[in-house]
Amino acid sequence: MQEIERILAHADSTNPQAALSWIASEYPGQCAFSSSLGAEDQVITHMIAAQNLPVRVFTLDTGRLFPETYDLLEVTGKKYHLSIEVFYPKTASVQAMVNAKGINLFYDSKENRIECCHIRKVEPLHRSLRNTKIWITGLRKDQSDTRKQIDFVEYDKQFSIIKVNPIFEWNDQQVFSYLKTHQVPYNPLHDKGYPSIGCQPCTRAVFPGEDSRSGRWWWEQDAHRECGLHQH
Ligand code: ADX
Ligand code: SF4
Repeated sequence: MQEIERILAHADSTNPQAALSWIASEYPGQCAFSSSLGAEDQVITHMIAAQNLPVRVFTLDTGRLFPETYDLLEVTGKKYHLSIEVFYPKTASVQAMVNAKGINLFYDSKENRIECCHIRKVEPLHRSLRNTKIWITGLRKDQSDTRKQIDFVEYDKQFSIIKVNPIFEWNDQQVFSYLKTHQVPYNPLHDKGYPSIGCQPCTRAVFPGEDSRSGRWWWEQDAHRECGLHQH
């Protein structure tokens, strides 16, 4: 795709700060960053805020997040004078699902879990990416074996959008040293064994050396455990 080639030719994939700045200036008002408030997303939020880039920042509130995540949403917005847009699932869909299948339906079957993720995350993401040309994420290659093929710039077929992953090649050490150097607020659960944080009932701490995403939907047996936001 021509547009992707152009971004690859101009944006330096080894310099996320500079790459974000180039992309934001080339596509003003057309870039949106999805933040889950995770460590990598806090790095990118800091880069966007520090340079005052014209990038819309949003989060998907599934209604089942950790209290620590809600606190971080508040603290981050205030610290960076940033209005982080919050998207919610459709009330009628959540209500019908819960009344038919129970509040914790996701533990009963993979099918139920995918349905809950679809209603609480995937559908709201479709709405949040409307009128957007570039979708910025905090995806990283070393988050799991299934994320090893992530590229700096990709075409996302599910959402028909160009996706940019500015810190795709960073490791954990780079992420946390950036957060500390720049005094970026981060979720205290990261220091309690939670490398990857999603919804509270579907996330647990991991043992040292375990895959960083092994605490997500931990009761499922197959290795490919994703919520449907990303195809990796
Ligand atoms: S997930 O697909 O399993 O949920 P993960 O938590 O690793 O993904 O996050 C990967 C990227 O997906 C984040 O850097 C962020 O861009 C996006 N993302 C995940 N969850 C959310 C959320 N609740 N709100 C906004 N963006 C999210
Ligand atoms: Fe539902 Fe769990 Fe998916 Fe959150 S992670 S949307 S609670 S199934």
